[in-house]
Amino acid sequence: MTSPLGRVSRIAGAAQVLRMPEGAPYLRDASALTLEPGDVMVQGDRIAEAAGDGVVIDASGCAVLPGFVDCHTHLPFAGWRAEEYERKVTGVPYAEIARLGGGIASSARSLAAASDAEVLAQAGALAGELLRLGTTAFEGKTGYGLSSEGEARAARLGRALAERTVQPMRLTGLFAHAVPPGTIADAWMDEAEALARSTDVDALDIFVESVAFANEHLARWGALARELGLPLRAHVEQLATHRSVPVALEWGARSVDHLSCLHPDDVAPLAAAECAAVLLPGAEFLNREHLPPARALADAGAICVLATDFNPGTSPVTSMPLVIGLAVRLYGWSVREALLASTLNAAWVLGWSDERGSLEPGKRADVVVLDGPAEHVPYRFGHDPVAAVVAGGELVWVRPDQAWRVRS
Ligand code: NIG
Ligand code: FE
Repeated sequence: MTSPLGRVSRIAGAAQVLRMPEGAPYLRDASALTLEPGDVMVQGDRIAEAAGDGVVIDASGCAVLPGFVDCHTHLPFAGWRAEEYERKVTGVPYAEIARLGGGIASSARSLAAASDAEVLAQAGALAGELLRLGTTAFEGKTGYGLSSEGEARAARLGRALAERTVQPMRLTGLFAHAVPPGTIADAWMDEAEALARSTDVDALDIFVESVAFANEHLARWGALARELGLPLRAHVEQLATHRSVPVALEWGARSVDHLSCLHPDDVAPLAAAECAAVLLPGAEFLNREHLPPARALADAGAICVLATDFNPGTSPVTSMPLVIGLAVRLYGWSVREALLASTLNAAWVLGWSDERGSLEPGKRADVVVLDGPAEHVPYRFGHDPVAAVVAGGELVWVRPDQAWRVRS
């Protein structure tokens, strides 16, 4: 894609450039990250040792970060569920909302009622919103199809979305998201397996919960992922403790996501495994007495990751800066811990850390220029800190009040 704003040669005079040890697929300790003054050179679509052709971005007074990688969203979906939000925050349980026809089934009806063009127009605009908030690569999932035909369509729409977004997008087959009405979990798993075998996706995901699928289904999904050579991801321990993490680890999961109700005995094994702990603070109002043991996971050396979980039901949040703010405030993470979890470690979940996630010469030039120091991202909670975004060496966004920073 060629941006109307043009190629970038150099991001100059930054007060802070986020650097991390080169060549690491992920890091378990954020103390290796540094925020030092400097320049970032760009040649073509790559970070380089010397500047190529293009505009210069004046980053004086600013932090320069690798583009955020949002490794857990539920794009593409159709419509919204704002009417559920108030019920949820005032304490109506998720299971009750589902019983009243809300929840995943409600988004499934919206998706079925929308044309392909309508779905892609909404999802494409939302990917643009992600980009302006600094997300230069993301993941989306199926999961609102809720029938074999619906899920096959969701996967097709996911690939069509990836073709029209500025950012590269991975597509995950969340074929085991909810048990479609009129069927039972065991029977649906046969359909889900057939979808996984016949559909072009980059990873498999499953929602393990009393309202969805059980640990035995997770084990079956793990065996299938292994057979198909796809990374296994799983929504686990979101609403209650089911001890799903040991099952996911047994099947070599790439990530376990949510973990709000993680059993204390599962912290150390998860931290020792090559499996990311993907924490989703935008979704945690669902169960506010349970926050994930985020401090314990980071202290134990887990591969910690943050993502938005962007979806119309539980986390209508597009902003990685907001998620970083929530993590620092709610988890007691340092700024560097939250930044590592939003960049390199998140790229690893998507199998992209060789290409993305750090400002390392040779990697794709996906860069976020902030309007102040990195510490302001969580501190100025709710402020949009993104001054400019570079994706694949192209300047794709400059906030209007920051346009003076761009010089030819
Ligand atoms: O990640 N946990 C299951 N899936 C989504 C929410 C789905 C929905 O309510 O639409 C989540 O929170
Ligand atoms: Fe999710």
